[in-house]
Amino acid sequence: MNKKEIIQKTEQYARETLEKDSSGHDWWHVERVRRLALQIAQHENVCTFTVELAALLHDIADSKFHDGDEEIGPRTARNWLESLNVEPAVVDNVCDIIKKISFKSAHIADKAMSPEGSVVQDADRLDAIGAIGVARVFAYGGYKGHTMSASIDHFYEKLLLVKNRINTETGKTIAQERHNYMLEFLKTFESEWN
Ligand code: NI
Repeated sequence: MNKKEIIQKTEQYARETLEKDSSGHDWWHVERVRRLALQIAQHENVCTFTVELAALLHDIADSKFHDGDEEIGPRTARNWLESLNVEPAVVDNVCDIIKKISFKSAHIADKAMSPEGSVVQDADRLDAIGAIGVARVFAYGGYKGHTMSASIDHFYEKLLLVKNRINTETGKTIAQERHNYMLEFLKTFESEWN
């Protein structure tokens, strides 16, 4: 199977697995992360095949929805890629990226990643901020039954910190624009609330 076919099969697999998700980690999130990652990758010295596979598989089995089993994502991705006979070095890199990609909290430092991982991590983080980020916070809050003010807290606990946790220069430029938009949103939200 050539690289193009592997990407196509993996896209189909991710789409079928995630299409029914309503928590904000849905197929369209994955598709946006993939496009952003490929956009950032153009300015970095990375293997775009690995970047694209990792983007497509990064939320394939999110541990948040599997009782905190941290290994389920990497394990699911490994089984999938091995079934397609992807070369072991690429499989290892993709699984390592999936394991380390998430933002645990403001107090937990990010783990060192491969250059491909830095790109996919930036794309995933960028999709958590800006207008899409605002929409995702409330979609996730609704799914979890949180109040609106708990969702607003999430901006201060996490989303406004994201721009300082971006790896690449291209990512930083996009992050700054999206950050400014969120500040604008919060200001307007607060003025309407009061
Ligand atoms: Ni994600």
